[in-house]
Amino acid sequence: MLEILLAFIPLCSLLTQAAPLHGRSTPNPVVKTATLYGPISETEPVYLDRDSCGSTKWGDRVLFVCRDTEVYKDLANRSEGVTAFFSSSASYIDINSDGSLSFVPFTPEPGTPDSESHFNYSLPAYGANNNKAFYPTQPDECDAETGSCDNNSTRWVIWPDSPPLVSSEGADGTIKAYSWIKKAYITDSLGVIIENPAISLYRLDYSPSIQGTGDVLPAVTLVNEEFFHENQWTYGDFGNIVIDDTAYLFAATGNGTTSLAKVPIGSEEDVSAYQYFVSGAWTSTMPSINDPNAIIIATSGGQGTFYFSQPWNSYVWIGQAVNDGSLTFQITTAPAIEGPWTVPKTFFSVASSPGLVYSVQAHPAFLSDPSINSVWVSYTVAINNYGYDTILYKFDWE
Ligand SMILES: *[C@@H]1O[C@H](CO)[C@@H](O)[C@H](O)[C@H]1NC(C)=O
Ligand SMILES: *[C@@H]1O[C@H](CO)[C@@H](O)[C@H](O)[C@H]1NC(C)=O
Ligand SMILES: *[C@@H]1O[C@H](CO)[C@@H](O)[C@H](O)[C@H]1NC(C)=O
Ligand SMILES: *[C@@H]1O[C@H](CO)[C@@H](O)[C@H](O)[C@H]1NC(C)=O
Ligand SMILES: *[C@@H]1O[C@H](CO)[C@@H](O)[C@H](O)[C@H]1NC(C)=O
Repeated sequence: MLEILLAFIPLCSLLTQAAPLHGRSTPNPVVKTATLYGPISETEPVYLDRDSCGSTKWGDRVLFVCRDTEVYKDLANRSEGVTAFFSSSASYIDINSDGSLSFVPFTPEPGTPDSESHFNYSLPAYGANNNKAFYPTQPDECDAETGSCDNNSTRWVIWPDSPPLVSSEGADGTIKAYSWIKKAYITDSLGVIIENPAISLYRLDYSPSIQGTGDVLPAVTLVNEEFFHENQWTYGDFGNIVIDDTAYLFAATGNGTTSLAKVPIGSEEDVSAYQYFVSGAWTSTMPSINDPNAIIIATSGGQGTFYFSQPWNSYVWIGQAVNDGSLTFQITTAPAIEGPWTVPKTFFSVASSPGLVYSVQAHPAFLSDPSINSVWVSYTVAINNYGYDTILYKFDWE
C-alpha cells in the first residue's frame, strides 16, 4: 500500500490547480440588434477569392488570415478559371484613429450575383501575397502552393483553422506570433485520409523596420512540421487565447470532442513546457487522443473563436456546430477558460441558399473598445460559378 502511495507522489506533484476564476458573471447572451455590414475583401493589388478567415490584433492594424485563395483570370467571367491558387493568404485591415473599422461603400465586383449585391459596406483588406501560400507548404506536401498530389486526386491542406496567437509585441512594434495548423490530407471530394493529423507549428515575425507599415506581410517560418504527432490531440488548431502570459490552446477531433493545453508565453516552441488539462487538473503528461478524461466539454465542436468579454467578465466562444451545413451561430460562456462552459445556445442563423455557408468566426480585434457590449462575427458563403465571400455582421447584445 505504501509503495503504491509513493508511486503516485511524482505524478501528483506534476498536477497543479486550475487557474483562478477570471470571470464571475453568468451572462445570458440575447441579441438586441443584428446589423449586416457586408464583405471583407482584398481587391488590391488583385482580387483574392478565399474562404474561412479569422483575425488578430496586429500593432495598430488587424492581421486577417484565410484558407484556400484564388485569383481569377477574368472576374466578369469566372468560368475562365484561375491564374493562381494557394492554400492560405493573409491581409492587413486598417483601423481608423477613433478605433472604428475602415469601411467603404460597397461596390459589387464584376460578376457579383444579385444575392451578394445588396450590401451597404465592404471592409478593405490589403497585403502582398505574391500568389504564394502564407503558411508555406513543405516538400513532402506535394504542390508547393496548393498541396495537390497525384493529378489532383488527393491534397495536403495546410489550412489555418484559427488566427495566429500573438506571443510578444515590443515597444518598437516588433511582433512574434504562432500558428498551430493541422497537416491534413484529404481526397478531392474533401474525404478525410488521415483521421487525426499532426500539427505543424509556424512562427510569424514582423518588424516595422523590416516589413514596414505597408502591404508587406509578416515573415512565416516553419518551427516543426510535426510538433504534435499524428494521433495526438491537435492543440492550438481549434482555438487559442492568451491569459496572464499563458497561451491556452484548444484541440478538436473530427467528431468535435475538444481538449485543452497551456504553455507559458515565450515557450511555445518547447513541447516539454506544455501542460494538459486532464480530469480537471493540469499535468505535464500529454493525454492520449482516446483518453476520455482529456475531453473538456466546451463549444459545439465546429469552427469558432475563443475570447474574453470585458462587459460580461466572462470567457466566450462563438462558432458553429460540427458539420453544420445550414448555419447557426452558437455561443457558450465560462467563468474560467477550463470551464464549466454553458450549453451552446443559438443566437443567429443564416440560410445556406444560394451557397454553402460555414466558418463562423468572431473578431474581438474589430471592437473599437473592449468595454463595448457588441461582437463582430463573419462567415463564409461559397456560391457556384462565383466563389467565396466573407460576410461581416455586428451584434449588439441586450
Ligand atoms: C466565359 O468563359 C467560358 C469558358 O472560357 C466560355 O465558354 C464562355 O463563353 C464565356 N462567357 C462569356 C459570356 O463570355
Ligand atoms: C442598407 O441601408 C439601407 C438604408 O439605410 C437600409 O434600408 C438597408 O436595410 C441596408 N442594407 C442592409 C443589407 O443592411
Ligand atoms: C489526370 O486526370 C485527368 C482527368 O481525370 C485525366 O484525363 C488524365 O489522364 C490524368 N493524368 C494523369 C497523368 O494521370
Ligand atoms: C489541378 O488543379 C489546379 C487548380 O484547379 C489546375 O490548375 C491544374 O491544372 C490541375 N492539375 C491537373 C494535373 O489536373
Ligand atoms: C472521436 O474521435 C476520437 C479520436 O479519433 C476517438 O477516440 C473517439 O472515440 C471519437 N468519439 C466518438 C463519439 O466518435
